[in-house]
Amino acid sequence: MNIAIIGTGNVGGALATQWSKAGHSIYLGVRDVHDFKGKELLDNAHTSVHPIAEAIAAAEVILVASPPQFAESQAAIFGNLKGKVLIDATNAVRTKPENHPTAYHAFAALTNAEVVKCFNSTGFENMQNPSYGEQQLDMFMAGDSDVAKATARQLAKDAGFENCYDFGDHTKVELLEQFALAWINLAIFQGLGRGIGFKVIRR
Ligand SMILES: NC(=O)c1ccc[n+]([C@@H]2O[C@H](COP(=O)([O-])OP(=O)(O)OC[C@H]3O[C@@H](n4cnc5c(N)ncnc54)[C@H](OP(=O)(O)O)[C@@H]3O)[C@@H](O)[C@H]2O)c1
Repeated sequence: MNIAIIGTGNVGGALATQWSKAGHSIYLGVRDVHDFKGKELLDNAHTSVHPIAEAIAAAEVILVASPPQFAESQAAIFGNLKGKVLIDATNAVRTKPENHPTAYHAFAALTNAEVVKCFNSTGFENMQNPSYGEQQLDMFMAGDSDVAKATARQLAKDAGFENCYDFGDHTKVELLEQFALAWINLAIFQGLGRGIGFKVIRR
């Protein structure tokens, strides 16, 4: 797949690297092609850097991993996203879009993309490496688009997660952000450390 990464920091960098290793073409979409976080990502295979609109035009999948309060202004510059999948990995932990509860809601309302919330519910270190010994962590997603969910599930597996469980439709997006807060609470506030992750087990 051709994947645009908007937000090339901790999360965007981790997933850009995993997906590049899996054989996808990565288009880093940045505000300043000469000065952006994650320049080392250009050492990865089939990875290039572009102005945001150019990266999006080249891609069929867009990962948004930037601060959520910019979602409304980003939607305005993303342009026509018909037929493209937009994966929202943001969490409205400290800040949120002005007129929407989450970036997912802003993108779903303001763009014509197939939108899904995914890759928000664990630390970026777990996206760099979802393996714990013989086991792989699971990923989780929510939203209204089955097309976007199928893409997100495939990309979660390509990044090394065992499965990508569906939390449900848009009414579960905020729950999925709360699930991320549960990880943050355990890892940081309760002191377990960032080397923990979630996995569904079944009898
Ligand atoms: N850190 C985690 O473990 C984690 C886990 C799950 C989800 N998240 C969520 O993922 C998002 C990114 O977190 P992060 O830790 O990866 O952040 P980060 O390392 O600080 O990187 C943020 C990136 O966003 C870019 N950016 C900032 N404003 C932008 C704008 N208006 N348009 C386009 N790009 C913009 C920055 O670009 P420049 O280089 O130009 O500054 C930078 O590449 C946040 O919403 C966070 O809640 C984080």
